[in-house]
Amino acid sequence: MALIIALMIALACHAQAKAVFAHFMVANSENFTLDNWREDIRSAQAAKIDAFALNTGYGGLYTGQLLNDAFTVAAELDFKLFLSLDYSGDGHWPQDQVIKWLGNYTKLPAYYKHNNETPLVSTFEGYEAQGDWVNIKKKVDCFFVPDWSSIMPEKLASSTVTDGLMSWSAWPDGTAAMNTSMDERYLAALKSSNGTDKPYIMPVSPWFYANMVRYNKNWVWQGDDLWYTRWKQVYEIDPEYVEILTWNDVGESHYIGPIHELDLGTFVSGGAPFDYAIGMPHDGWRAFLPYVVDEYKNGQGSATIEEEGLVTWYRLSPSWACSAGKTTGNTATQGQTTLPPGEVLKDAIFFSALLESAADVFVSIDGKAESVDWSDTPDGSGKGIYFGSVPMDNRTGEVIVTLSRGGHELTRVLGQPITTICGNNNMTNWNAWVGSNMTNSSAANSSASDSSGDKESSAWTMRSELRGLLIPALIVGVCLGWVI
Ligand SMILES: *[C@@H]1O[C@H](CO)[C@@H](O)[C@H](O)[C@H]1NC(C)=O
Ligand SMILES: *[C@@H]1O[C@H](CO)[C@@H](O)[C@H](O)[C@H]1NC(C)=O
Ligand SMILES: *[C@@H]1O[C@H](CO)[C@@H](O)[C@H](O)[C@H]1NC(C)=O
Ligand SMILES: *[C@@H]1O[C@H](CO)[C@@H](O)[C@H](O)[C@H]1NC(C)=O
Ligand SMILES: *[C@@H]1O[C@H](CO)[C@@H](O)[C@H](O)[C@H]1NC(C)=O
Ligand SMILES: *[C@@H]1O[C@H](CO)[C@@H](O)[C@H](O)[C@H]1NC(C)=O
Ligand SMILES: *[C@@H]1O[C@H](CO)[C@@H](O)[C@H](O)[C@H]1NC(C)=O
Ligand SMILES: *[C@@H]1O[C@H](CO)[C@@H](O)[C@H](O)[C@H]1NC(C)=O
Ligand SMILES: *[C@@H]1O[C@H](CO)[C@@H](O)[C@H](O)[C@H]1NC(C)=O
Repeated sequence: MALIIALMIALACHAQAKAVFAHFMVANSENFTLDNWREDIRSAQAAKIDAFALNTGYGGLYTGQLLNDAFTVAAELDFKLFLSLDYSGDGHWPQDQVIKWLGNYTKLPAYYKHNNETPLVSTFEGYEAQGDWVNIKKKVDCFFVPDWSSIMPEKLASSTVTDGLMSWSAWPDGTAAMNTSMDERYLAALKSSNGTDKPYIMPVSPWFYANMVRYNKNWVWQGDDLWYTRWKQVYEIDPEYVEILTWNDVGESHYIGPIHELDLGTFVSGGAPFDYAIGMPHDGWRAFLPYVVDEYKNGQGSATIEEEGLVTWYRLSPSWACSAGKTTGNTATQGQTTLPPGEVLKDAIFFSALLESAADVFVSIDGKAESVDWSDTPDGSGKGIYFGSVPMDNRTGEVIVTLSRGGHELTRVLGQPITTICGNNNMTNWNAWVGSNMTNSSAANSSASDSSGDKESSAWTMRSELRGLLIPALIVGVCLGWVI
């Protein structure tokens, strides 16, 4: 018995260390005011994101000022930040500079600490500077979890400077479905014979489309169902940490943060043929994160649904209508076999719903509505996230996705129209448009009480609310005791 309790406490204390980060490109926040930082940090907090991994290249003109502002606002709003040093960009990080920058920022109260103790430091690439970290770690107390994805995890297993590893493999190959093979290879590399495995940062991304002439980057990877599928893989892998790729990398179309019109300069500096983020919001991809993050942290079936809702995403033109813009599916620059982008990304409207119980979905294109079947529904009671898609079938016009239960509309998303007329010199924008809408909560509450057993269910809610307070209180108490 005592053993079981000890085990439960150990597990519970361990579970507390779990966190969700979002990769944040500091270069794309060059024109941020303090209010911009506040807006983004509040949006991240509303999505239950714990910290931004601040991607920082060496030698940026305004980096110091931007980091100072970010840390000021994070402290004000009780948010956390840590540095992800970018070794791939225009300049490598000299060792003495790493020591100076980390020395300054890891001391700040808003700096994210592994297990509330040791400042977490990550990278984007930089394996060749591995040797620097022997000395850096002597000078700066830090928990070092680099992303060295150009090197296979098996080779990284023997590294003595790393305290954990991050992977950048968040997208599938060609038309294949995303799987967890690479994640499992990382976990194997992080295994330790004494049972205390090193932490893994698992990458999760909703999309990938880049068209940057200056960086010789012009490809898509399969993202159609990725935001739905990959989070289920997070539950399976159950890593210590998750990092969303990304918060604001507009140039690679995998941002989930708000678009700031004054900060889209990367399309100019990167030599993009057109700005493929403007007018293409991705905020809807954050709508279910509070639920998804709770499920990841506390176990499937544990999270409560604050509001039911609907998210939909799709490209605004079918793949054949305009030129591909020389975009390929996959990329030869990473040793992949390329194929037409329209084979990797389907001409379809994708949708996902967060529901207490089953509901019906209708998709209307140009005023013609059809009832659509879900392709995936949650196990058991029907509570959780649903997913489906409907082919465009060459239809164009306004898109409306509607969610209803028992003939009552729960919510709808009024989407951008699909068109075969492309601006941008007739080039296809392979980025996704994303919309979302939550339910009108008073309508949802009244329809929920229609169902059955009001009294019983409210008594149950009371009890589980009490339990909900008591158990965390106990766990926090014991974990604190444990640390002290
Ligand atoms: C570190 O902080 C000192 C004191 O505030 C400042 O003068 C220096 O410029 C900072 N250096 C870096 C690299 O942030
Ligand atoms: C997982 O996906 C990768 C890349 O698409 C593929 O090479 C690998 O064979 C897949 N693994 C399994 C178990 O299907
Ligand atoms: C377990 O081994 C790893 C190295 O493989 C070491 O870093 C860690 O401190 C060890 N943990 C314990 C509790 O001995
Ligand atoms: C910031 O604003 C300047 C002036 O308008 C612009 O040249 C630059 O590209 C902007 N930076 C970003 C990251 O968009
Ligand atoms: C746009 O591209 C499509 C597909 O390549 C082509 O069929 C069409 O003629 C082009 N339209 C214009 C106006 O160039
Ligand atoms: C859609 O239109 C294209 C171009 O006219 C054609 O090649 C394709 O077969 C059509 N697809 C469907 C599903 O009707
Ligand atoms: C959200 O859903 C409500 C209820 O169905 C609807 O009245 C409203 O127009 C929708 N809002 C948007 C932005 O789609
Ligand atoms: C609906 O129920 C939720 C949870 O019980 C509650 O927080 C919310 O205030 C209710 N909304 C309305 C409009 O009654
Ligand atoms: C929400 O539902 C309530 C009750 O059905 C209704 O009175 C109210 O107008 C609705 N609000 C919106 C914004 O649709």
